[in-house]
Amino acid sequence: MSQFKGYFPMVRPRRMRRDEFSRRLMRENLLTPDDFIYPVFVLEGQGQREPVPSMPGVERLSIDLLVEEARAAARLGIPAMALFPVTPAGKKTEDAAEAYNPDGLAQNAVRALKDAVPEMGVITDVALDPFTIHGQDGLIDETGYVLNDETVEVLTQQALSHAEAGADVVAPSDMMDGRIGAIREALEEGGHIHTRILAYSAKYASSFYGPFRDAVGSAANLGAGNKYTYQMDPHNSDEALQEVAMDLEEGADMVMIKPGMPYLDIVRRVKETFGVPTFAYHVSGEYAMLKAAGQNGWIDEKACVLEALTCMKRAGADGILTYYARQALEWMD
Ligand code: PBG
Repeated sequence: MSQFKGYFPMVRPRRMRRDEFSRRLMRENLLTPDDFIYPVFVLEGQGQREPVPSMPGVERLSIDLLVEEARAAARLGIPAMALFPVTPAGKKTEDAAEAYNPDGLAQNAVRALKDAVPEMGVITDVALDPFTIHGQDGLIDETGYVLNDETVEVLTQQALSHAEAGADVVAPSDMMDGRIGAIREALEEGGHIHTRILAYSAKYASSFYGPFRDAVGSAANLGAGNKYTYQMDPHNSDEALQEVAMDLEEGADMVMIKPGMPYLDIVRRVKETFGVPTFAYHVSGEYAMLKAAGQNGWIDEKACVLEALTCMKRAGADGILTYYARQALEWMD
């Protein structure tokens, strides 16, 4: 039996698309404030505000201004912020010791934020690239190879110092093997049993991170270097499942896929395979592309950004880390 009677289709999907009421009724995925993690770049000093040239609209802020930004974010209903410190060149070393300075910029920012806006979840980045003179996420040997186990020891100290400062979530973004297990063990032993770990489990060696490296000032240090020996190859997807499985077994509470838009197949596979809290990182290069095209009048920035974020949710992300978090919620208001 044909579904068509005579010339006319009995089934017309356009019926449901005809009016706003029925489009609203059948809508499967909606962005809400609960979906957002707001990343911010933190500067030393007081009253300091510096634009990031490759990310128009994004500024590095000193802690006092960061607190104001957190108040605004909380008013919009943003559940959590992710802190990325901008380390002055003079504090970068071969051994990245500034990473676990209890009085370091990240640690001080955590204390100030939890003090001023206690309901805001505070997420810290666990990785050494802002603190090394070579811009790699770990310690290197004489050939330039990033050492795994030695790096994990430093990352563990860094994560502990964040937890001690009051971080709600530590987020290792370094891709060393075994770091989630080591950090989880140290947190448990240190009595930080409630500190959550957001593991950057599937972090790719992506070229979309360029503007971020400008923002935190690691681009010049890294120079022509790359991160291919630890971040994942964009050609692969099975590897991401293995990384996620390991991190979950080692004690991760949430997992991150990074970048976002070009990697939504990974988001979908991870969410379907593991069913755990899964996040997508809408990275700096994705922000820069949308912003640049919008500023040139080539795309409708607002419409394209909200579509991109919605698609990440549709792909299976429970939340999205995006530089557009505050702007998106202002647009949605
Ligand atoms: C490094 C780190 C990077 C980003 C977040 N943490 C860059 C890198 O791996 O080189 C990139 C985020 C972005 O591009 O927005 N630990």
